[in-house]
Amino acid sequence: MATLRALKARQVLDSRGRPTVEVDAIADGGAVGRAIVPSGASTGRHEALELRDGDPGRYAGLGVGKAVENVRAAIAPAIAGMDLDDQAAIDAALLALDGTPNKSKLGANALLGVSMAVAHAAAAARGEELFVHVNRLWKGRAAGLDPAVPREPTMPLPMVNMISGGLHAGRNLDIQDVLFIPTGAESYSHALETIVAMYRAVGGVLKELGAESVLVGDEGGYGPKLENDEQALRVVVDAMLACGLTPGVDGHIALDVASTHFFDPATGSYRLSNVARPMDSAGMVDLLAGWVDRYPIISIEDGVAEDDWGGWKALTDRLGDRVQLIGDDLFVTQTARLERGVASGAANAVLIKVNQVGTLTETLDALVLARRAGFRPVVSARSGETEDATIADLAVGTAAGQIKIGSVARSERLAKYNRMLRIEEDLGPDARFAGRGTLP
Ligand code: PGA
Ligand code: ZN
Repeated sequence: MATLRALKARQVLDSRGRPTVEVDAIADGGAVGRAIVPSGASTGRHEALELRDGDPGRYAGLGVGKAVENVRAAIAPAIAGMDLDDQAAIDAALLALDGTPNKSKLGANALLGVSMAVAHAAAAARGEELFVHVNRLWKGRAAGLDPAVPREPTMPLPMVNMISGGLHAGRNLDIQDVLFIPTGAESYSHALETIVAMYRAVGGVLKELGAESVLVGDEGGYGPKLENDEQALRVVVDAMLACGLTPGVDGHIALDVASTHFFDPATGSYRLSNVARPMDSAGMVDLLAGWVDRYPIISIEDGVAEDDWGGWKALTDRLGDRVQLIGDDLFVTQTARLERGVASGAANAVLIKVNQVGTLTETLDALVLARRAGFRPVVSARSGETEDATIADLAVGTAAGQIKIGSVARSERLAKYNRMLRIEEDLGPDARFAGRGTLP
C-alpha cells in the first residue's frame, strides 16, 4: 500500500494564458503524480466554485494563489499519510475539509488538483498506467450496475469541434460548437485519421466561401464569419462529402448550442443574433427540430438553458428518441441535478467535466448514476485546458464511450488525442472501441 507523503502546488497557465492550479502528489516510496486543473468560459451557474484571487493588479484578478495556498496549508497536512489507493476516502476528506456545498471555502480548483494528482500518484506507485488504475476504481463502482454497462477499458468515440462560435470564438455564430462524429470509424486511430481529414476539408470549404477561416477558437475549431448558424451546418456536410463520407451514415454532426449564454432569464427568451425575434423554449425546440430534420445531427448539447427544465422536457419529448441530448450547464456533472433530470425526463445524456464538480469520486458518482439511468456519458475537456491529459484516461478507464476535447489543433487538445493513441497501443490490437453503437 502506498501512502501520500506530501503535496506540492503551484500556479501555472492554461491555454488562454490564465492562471490555474497544478498539484504534485508524492507517494511515500517517491512516486509522483501530477495534475493541472482546467477552466471553462461558458460555465454553468451551478458549477463548483473556481477560486480566483480577485487582485486586479495580478493576472487581471484571475490568479489562483489562494487555491494554491489552500493545497499547501489546509489540505496537505490533513491528508498526508492516507492510502493513495483509497480515492474515495481521500476525496471524502477533501469534501469534509471544505465543508461547503459548492467548494467555495478551499476552491474546487484546489480540491480537483489534489484529487487528480492523487490518482496519478496511486497509478505511478503501482507502476501502472492511469487508465488501468481508473478502471479498477470504475469496476468497483460499477459492481452493482446492469451487466450490460461496459466495464473494460474502452477507447471512446470522439465528437470533435469543427466550427466554433458563441463565447469561444467571438464572431457572429450563436452556436458554440459544430462538431463532427466519425461514426464510420472502426477504431480510435481510424476515427482520429478521419477527423484530421475532416478538419482539413472544413478549412477548404471555408476558404472557398472566403470566410476568413484561418482563425481558430478556444478549442481549435475554425472561427469563421458566416451568414448564420445554419451555414455552419452546411459547411460540415460539404466537408463530409469532400472526404468521401456519406452524411448520416459514416459521419454525423453534433452541436453544443451552449444556449444558456444567449438565454435571458428575466423574459424567458432565447436571443440569437441570427434570428430576428427572441424565442421562447418552444421556438428554440422548433428551431433545433428543424435542423435535425434537415441535417445529419445525432447529438445536441445544451439545446435549451441551464434552468429551463420545462424546455428540456419539451426538447427531450420531441427529439429524445432519435437524438442524443446532452446536459452540460444543466447537470454540471452533479448527481443532485442529474437525478432531477432523470426523474423529470430532461435530456438523455450527460457531459462529464471533472472541474464542474471538483473531485474524481464525485465524477465517478455522476458516471454511475448516468449508467444506472441509461443516460450516455460524454467525458469532456474545458475551453481552458493544459497539457494535462487525465480526462483521456478517465474516458477509457470508465468505458464512458464518448469524449469531447475540442479540435485537432492546439496542443492542449492534442495532448489528450495523443494520450489516447498511446493507450490504444497499450491495449493492443484487440482494444475495444465504443464506435457508432454508443449513439442512438
Ligand atoms: P466551456 O465550454 O469549457 O467554456 O464551458 C465547453 C462546453 O460548453 O462544453
Ligand atoms: Zn457545453
